[in-house]
Amino acid sequence: MIAAMVVVIRSALAEPGPTPVANTVSFNASLRARTDRPGATIDRNIYGTFAEHLGRGIYEGIWVGENSPIPNTRGLRNDVIAALRKLELSVLRWPGGCFADEYHWRDGIGPSSKRPRRANTSWGGVETNAFGVHEFMDFAELIGAQPYISVNVGSGTPREMMEWLEYMTSGTDSALAGLRRDNGRKQPWNVKYIGIGNEAWGCGGNMTPEYYADEYKRYAAFVKKYGADDFMKIAVGPSDEDYNWTEVLMKKAAKHIDGLSLHYYTLPTGNWKSKGSATQFSEPEWRSTLFRTLRMEGFIQKHSQIMDKYDPERRVALVVDEWGTWYDSEPGKGALYQQSTLRDALVAAINLNIFNRHAERVRMAASAQAINVLQSLLLTDKSKMVLTPTYHVFEMYRVHHDATLIPLDVQAPDYGKGPEALPSIHASASRSREGILHFSLVNLDPTHSANLSIALEGQTPKTVLGRVLTASSVNALNDFDHASVEPKTLRGEVAAGTVRVVLPAKSVAVLAVE
Ligand code: AHR
Repeated sequence: MIAAMVVVIRSALAEPGPTPVANTVSFNASLRARTDRPGATIDRNIYGTFAEHLGRGIYEGIWVGENSPIPNTRGLRNDVIAALRKLELSVLRWPGGCFADEYHWRDGIGPSSKRPRRANTSWGGVETNAFGVHEFMDFAELIGAQPYISVNVGSGTPREMMEWLEYMTSGTDSALAGLRRDNGRKQPWNVKYIGIGNEAWGCGGNMTPEYYADEYKRYAAFVKKYGADDFMKIAVGPSDEDYNWTEVLMKKAAKHIDGLSLHYYTLPTGNWKSKGSATQFSEPEWRSTLFRTLRMEGFIQKHSQIMDKYDPERRVALVVDEWGTWYDSEPGKGALYQQSTLRDALVAAINLNIFNRHAERVRMAASAQAINVLQSLLLTDKSKMVLTPTYHVFEMYRVHHDATLIPLDVQAPDYGKGPEALPSIHASASRSREGILHFSLVNLDPTHSANLSIALEGQTPKTVLGRVLTASSVNALNDFDHASVEPKTLRGEVAAGTVRVVLPAKSVAVLAVE
């Protein structure tokens, strides 16, 4: 780290050259891209999301019904389908969350009028089951994502799970495959990812790790193969820093596990009783939110170290299938509804950078959640829909899907002082199959832009193209009548073998370097 912040008064630059940031106090930072030491492939499954029967996530957010005046395809919102399709999301996790352990799949098949209405005991209200197995699979196909099904362990049985898997994936003339055909789906669906329960240490059954490890093995023994592919079996993993959970699960069940989940939510205050506002915050809360989100890296490192003891070949993936911000909900807008600001864009970018940087172990992730719940990609209000700042980060970061990780040495001053000092620049990089280098960069400093130079080890850059997401204030947001946070072009320059760019304060940028 450069010890002292270098203060430079930049005057507007004449074109061509880096995008000018007039009269802004800046600091210098540099990156060295280790193109000579390529890392693991960044699994595109890191770029997944999650849709739970919670608040207005499914009903209104995805499902409006065939008779709705809101344009739809077989009851599924067209605007939401088009927006999510563009993100090339890898996986879509469903039906929960806590809801998964109270969901019985047979409630969600057959004629809609005959489906039972059930209390949603996790999140309130009545579950109509209008959006069930066929509707979810239809939606996943329409947005181009792979289904990731969380099966009910807490209040279900291995038999119920087996029958669900057979119903979805069998191409035979078994009774369950026949029932699926009778319900309108001839071909089996391609389902590869199965979560065996959810948060078994909490809403999924209040189990000890020892007890859950045995339960997991019992369920896993009955995950049979009906289609062409084996299922990838994902065990309930720890929350945050519950290292004992990982230790016990890996010790008792590693050879039966293909993926181990990790859940971590970013709360500005760190206090579940008073989490903080989504939109009204000052610099200390901006900083503490980013500080808390950066903790993800330490959790991944420590859980990975434990996994390495039992799985040195790294066969078992770490699956971060719930991550994102969690603020105090806005009353009257549905359970866990929150607005999303530029701060959330930085949170998303930092987490995705961390996952990229640990691509050798983190091979799947799902943001929480897709629509109208927590750190959403989209928000809807009746017929209106808005793309959140987090949506734009997912769109900009598509360049990393299945690309090769390029390690970086980052030199930048700290943002802030003392125990909560943060790195001012957070970054990850990859090389695409076409050979293009992509840098995803975050400037955490809310008031200072960065004069950033990038050197490539053993390579000479020729051109740079960039896009940047920023706004005039840290709590800028996209509302239904006005969007303040949208990506813009970021100009850089290549001079004397170095890429130079001015990274605005409080921004996320992606550069393509050839
Ligand atoms: O994403 C909201 C909830 O958070 C999920 O249902 C649960 O798994 C977690 O505690």
